[in-house]
Amino acid sequence: MSENKLTIDSRVSLGDGNSMPLLGLGTWAAQPGGETRDAVAFALETGYRHIDTAKMYNNEQDVGEAVCQSSIPRADIFVTTKLWDSDQGYQPAHDAFNRSMDQLGLEYVDLYLIHWPVENLRNDSWHALEEIKESGRARSIGVSNFSHKHLQELFSHSDTRPVVNQIELSPFLQQPAIASFCRSENIQLTGYCPLAKGRRLDDTVLTDIAEQHGKSPAQVMIRWALQKKQAVIPKSSNPARIVQNADIFDFQIGADEMVRLDGLDDDSRFCPDPLSMP
Ligand SMILES: NC(=O)c1ccc[n+]([C@@H]2O[C@H](COP(=O)([O-])OP(=O)(O)OC[C@H]3O[C@@H](n4cnc5c(N)ncnc54)[C@H](OP(=O)(O)O)[C@@H]3O)[C@@H](O)[C@H]2O)c1
Repeated sequence: MSENKLTIDSRVSLGDGNSMPLLGLGTWAAQPGGETRDAVAFALETGYRHIDTAKMYNNEQDVGEAVCQSSIPRADIFVTTKLWDSDQGYQPAHDAFNRSMDQLGLEYVDLYLIHWPVENLRNDSWHALEEIKESGRARSIGVSNFSHKHLQELFSHSDTRPVVNQIELSPFLQQPAIASFCRSENIQLTGYCPLAKGRRLDDTVLTDIAEQHGKSPAQVMIRWALQKKQAVIPKSSNPARIVQNADIFDFQIGADEMVRLDGLDDDSRFCPDPLSMP
């Protein structure tokens, strides 16, 4: 994965032999109905090939409709959905997956994730995900918001490794310990809230580097993630910002600038800290 050659079609190999496009569209808080359908359809037209949804986002049906109505072959689109906390456990996870597939209207998803590491239930949920993968209805399985401790526990219960850990990552929250553990275990990181929800875009290091490249601070944040070899799923329902967030393949952040961006980590979190989960 050479950062010089990154394109919107760049994919990363996963530990199970499948691959995942590095840039995806996030859909948390995209309203069910036309907002989600239009955002996903427009993103696919723009060249995105990876869409991130979840049962909890209440928009799987709209994501599925946009994917099915697209002229892009299903095999070229990578769809992720997630098992919600109240559905965890062995049989509840199987049932929840079936409901998600009914909502999506797809024959398979590319990636099914345990959304959060729910105590006492996550290992049983994982057993269900292993069977779902074996059935072919999820091509890959992984986790989200798993800390080092949660992953170690999973490893002790199963020989099947998650191929992805989706966690909150941005220049303002770099999580070096879990990031390096995942890298050492061949678990691909996907960064959520990569724009820090749009709340840190006026940071002067970001605005300075953005100005140097004729780009926006949001574009610098997304490019930073890709140069860190993270998959990244910025959310937008706004067509101009959907285009902007994918217009990041014609510049490269220099080594000195990466060091400056790396210096922005101040543990800014917009979602709960998984370390607080037993
Ligand atoms: N696994 C998990 O537990 C978890 C948790 C949170 C999120 N996620 C996933 O990660 C995705 C991304 O995270 P997120 O949606 O929370 O946060 P985000 O992508 O960091 O930020 C999204 C916000 O930034 C705005 N925005 C988008 N592009 C922009 C741009 N170029 N300039 C300025 N503002 C811009 C969006 O508004 P507009 O829509 O109006 O453009 C939206 O308000 C989610 O959508 C979801 O798919 C997963």
